[in-house]
Amino acid sequence: MDTLQAIFTRRSIRKYTEEPVTQDTVHLLLRAAMVAPSAADQRPWHFVVVRNRDKLQAMGRRMEGCEMLQTAAVGLLVCGDESLEKIKGFWVQDCSACTLTILLAAHARGLGAVWVALYPLEERMRVVREELGIPDNIIPFALVSMGHPDEHLPGEDRFDASRVHREHW
Ligand SMILES: Cc1cc2nc3c(=O)[nH]c(=O)nc-3n(C[C@H](O)[C@H](O)[C@H](O)COP(=O)(O)O)c2cc1C
Repeated sequence: MDTLQAIFTRRSIRKYTEEPVTQDTVHLLLRAAMVAPSAADQRPWHFVVVRNRDKLQAMGRRMEGCEMLQTAAVGLLVCGDESLEKIKGFWVQDCSACTLTILLAAHARGLGAVWVALYPLEERMRVVREELGIPDNIIPFALVSMGHPDEHLPGEDRFDASRVHREHW
């Protein structure tokens, strides 16, 4: 799948089959995550790979609107580490670029995935900290829920000319 095809056909997938995701694929996704752009190449991130179904299901139960974790094969937690910042304040953009890179790479590999928001939702962050033992100085930013897709959503054309301003507003 080429890059544009991946961009235009990616959708948030929240239902997964029982088929496991291989270690090689998870490793590929981590490599993709770590090659994402970041301010001053500061890479202020850490990752937690969660394959334990009990843990995934516990988080799915405890966080409202996170039922997709009940059938996820893998949860890839993206964390921010402000102590790694060279330019203060950019860790959110950096972790966002990283999370989108994971979503696109997962889709290109035939997996279904969805960005589960953690930061800045205090309650979800608290649950993930408790379930995964995240230290206080590390910020649980987003959990990418993924697995082999058990739903297929079509790509959408969302181009909206009213949001485009040319040369000046
Ligand atoms: C910052 C961010 C947070 C999101 N959080 C959640 C979430 O907590 N739960 C969820 O089901 N989807 C979440 N999504 C996925 C969006 O709902 C989804 O991208 C949007 O509805 C567009 O659908 P699409 O991804 O299929 O194109 C999030 C997406 C982004 C970018």
